[in-house]
Amino acid sequence: MSLKSSAQRRLPALILCSLLALLAGCPEQSGTAIDDQGARVSAFDWGIPDHIPLPYEPADNPMTEEKFQLGRHLFYDQRLSVNGSVSCASCHHQDKAFSDGVARPFGATGQRHPRNSQALVNVAWYNNLTWANPALAHIEQQVMLPLFGDDPIEHGINEFNRVEVLASLQIDGRYATLFAAAFPDQTDPLMGELAWDNIVKALSSFVRGLASFNSPFDRNEHSAAARRGERLFNSERLECFHCHDGYNFSNATIDRTIDWIEPLFHNTGLYNIDGLGAYPYPNTGRHEVTGMASHMGQFRTPSLRNVELTAPYNHDGSVATLEDVIRNYAAGGRLITGGPHPGDGRISPLKDGFIVSFHITDAEINDLVEFLKSLTDESFVTNPRFSDPWQTEQP
Ligand code: HEC
Ligand code: HEC
Repeated sequence: MSLKSSAQRRLPALILCSLLALLAGCPEQSGTAIDDQGARVSAFDWGIPDHIPLPYEPADNPMTEEKFQLGRHLFYDQRLSVNGSVSCASCHHQDKAFSDGVARPFGATGQRHPRNSQALVNVAWYNNLTWANPALAHIEQQVMLPLFGDDPIEHGINEFNRVEVLASLQIDGRYATLFAAAFPDQTDPLMGELAWDNIVKALSSFVRGLASFNSPFDRNEHSAAARRGERLFNSERLECFHCHDGYNFSNATIDRTIDWIEPLFHNTGLYNIDGLGAYPYPNTGRHEVTGMASHMGQFRTPSLRNVELTAPYNHDGSVATLEDVIRNYAAGGRLITGGPHPGDGRISPLKDGFIVSFHITDAEINDLVEFLKSLTDESFVTNPRFSDPWQTEQP
């Protein structure tokens, strides 16, 4: 396995080069203004409670309402694909917290993605992106994968069709207005390579703005059962909080009050292929990117906010319900007896130390599920700011 990051591997060289300027412009972990009162300075209205620290904004793509609104139009526009069949929203539905309800989605040309479509919830607060890519720290880099990647093909935009795809946007007069408002310093923001840089920046701004911190749990309105589940979640018996920790329920959380956090990935024992000790290719987790045997099966801890809405679960959508996720943890891993990937994840030699079996009753499983459901933010999945703008606008 090569040491190239999967970001590089999946982007055709030509497109990668033409976008290198953009990548190079991405600072390591820099933000806009950081004040000493908890980092609350931004030109953008994040719509989040005061106790949640603001996320970083890249110095070369600070948040503005105009870029967010342009990004929202692009996110819901199928013209932004090789054959007009796929938009970001094809795999990221607002009512499912921007996941899609299927185990593994299909791209514009019918190719199946090896992984489960991720929810897009507080993406701005992650220190690395996708299920397990330590090399992807910036949303601007991530967004190029579905647009231009060819393994798998999602939107299918490449050097042969990009002029045509762009032309399908240029003929819509509404984009002239939206691009001009989003990039007021540019004379021709919808022309040539600059337009693609702008598309990536605007889409990233929209995704970055998808913040969700208004669940019953946040309002301290969760039920007695959910409170019992919360105590279980935070218990040394179940260990959940060791990885799903903090205000975003993930140890991959970064914000402007934190300079740096160690990139953490965990093997939760979902697979242990007999004789190989490996996860099914290409879903080998951090190992897919680094090639290191010790990284086999390690994935980023996902936030559990809105997790009620994002079934099926785990990196390949192979677990149907929250109850099943919990039963796998209780067993200390997953035993698969049939199908193409039989094996005993409970004895995975690379399993994380926090994944140890525990006894749990059905009533306790119910309470734990009630707690996870109390993290569902109805205002997030119905917020008109995040919805399809084309539905309400006249052509
Ligand atoms: C064909 C389905 C599909 C399409 C179309 C698609 N995505 Fe995704 N998205 C996924 C999958 C699958 C993942 C997980 C990828 C991985 O782990 O390698 C993902 C992951 C992401 C992530 C990372 C989230 C996180 O928590 O790290 C972001 C951001 C994202 N997509 C944004 C977009 C945007 C913006 C577009 C449109 C340009 C888009 N996606 C189009 C399926 C899709
Ligand atoms: C060692 C760290 C660790 C511990 C402990 C842990 N998790 Fe996880 N959790 C993860 C990782 C990593 C994933 C993604 C694994 C994958 O998909 O292969 C995950 C996935 C999940 C998912 C699926 C999320 C989705 O979007 O598909 C749920 C639900 C979940 N965990 C709940 C829990 C609960 C409840 C506990 C306690 C019983 C717990 N976790 C303990 C690290 C951990």
